[in-house]
Amino acid sequence: MSLPFDLRPNPHPRPTAEREAILAAPGFGVSFTDHMAVATWTGADGWHDSAVVPYGPFSLDPATAVLHYAQEIFEGLKAYKHADGSVWLFRPDQNAARLARSAHRLALPVLSEEDFLASIDALVAADVAWVPSAPASGASMPLDNEQSLYLRPFMFASEAFLGVRAAQRVTYCCIASPAGPYFARGVHPVSIWISTTYTRAAAGGMGAAKTGGNYAASLVAQQEAATHGCDQVMFADAAEHAYVEELGGMNVYLVTSDAELITPELSGSILEGVTRDSILSLAREFGLTPVERRIGVTELLEGIDSGWVAELFACGTAAVVTPIGTLKNEQGTHQVGSGQTGETTAALRKNLLDVQYGRAEDTHGWLRRVL
Ligand code: COI
Repeated sequence: MSLPFDLRPNPHPRPTAEREAILAAPGFGVSFTDHMAVATWTGADGWHDSAVVPYGPFSLDPATAVLHYAQEIFEGLKAYKHADGSVWLFRPDQNAARLARSAHRLALPVLSEEDFLASIDALVAADVAWVPSAPASGASMPLDNEQSLYLRPFMFASEAFLGVRAAQRVTYCCIASPAGPYFARGVHPVSIWISTTYTRAAAGGMGAAKTGGNYAASLVAQQEAATHGCDQVMFADAAEHAYVEELGGMNVYLVTSDAELITPELSGSILEGVTRDSILSLAREFGLTPVERRIGVTELLEGIDSGWVAELFACGTAAVVTPIGTLKNEQGTHQVGSGQTGETTAALRKNLLDVQYGRAEDTHGWLRRVL
């Protein structure tokens, strides 16, 4: 039996007109639905007090452990409305499994897959009016015609205690936010700054965990990228600054002129992205050989200049598949191909979205119906 997530309805939901105005142009991560799922864990009682409650602020003691020692993890997944009005999740079992791995690394309690899914099912059911409509289908569908309900499950140390040890009180919450493309300009090739000043994670660190600290560590590097006119930062490995790891919140892929689809191998310091994994499985359907291996920064830049790297793209739940047009570092700028969205990048992106929105057959069994 999973935890019960009974609904305590919000007595003041957003007026319909306001909700519809948000759904017409949701942006990314700026508006939230009427409810949230919550549960509490204590060392003595395990998980309890689970419910779907009105969306609203937490009241936290200033000594709450997460504010001091960042014992926190999160996930990101989306609910998609299909043309027949049904609502689906994409590989939520993978998010549940990664949340459990992150919990282990951050010494937080594991929320079972069953309870994780129960919290999401109950929240989506309560806020189904907030799931954006299915985008129009058809060959002329623009690349950025993508809207969904972004779900953000997270867990944090909510015990008020200043000693450094694993908290004995933990709060789990899932919020939901109607979302369009992650990048404000929509799906256009982005520019990437290769940071040699900052690294994201080192061997034995938290790089594979989805925890706020990794994203906090990326922010100053993201600012560095912005001062060089770039949209995103690319991190190299911490030991040698010589191998490509990932971007500030996304994995990265190369498409080569000899039909390989290459992504950095999971070294323990790279996030095990669900989209990354799905693309590896899709590669052969596109006539590409999937390869996970170390990629040298120099190899990448020389490959772009010689044309061996034909396309480059970022991927993640939020970014889906986002083309990369240019790479920059202290030595100069390297344009990938024509600098425009490559054919394979566009085809992979379309295929993933087609499966997610029910426009293509789900041959891998990746979709899970919620409503
Ligand atoms: C996601 O892709 O869901 C993430 O959590 C990454 C963040 C950049 C939004």
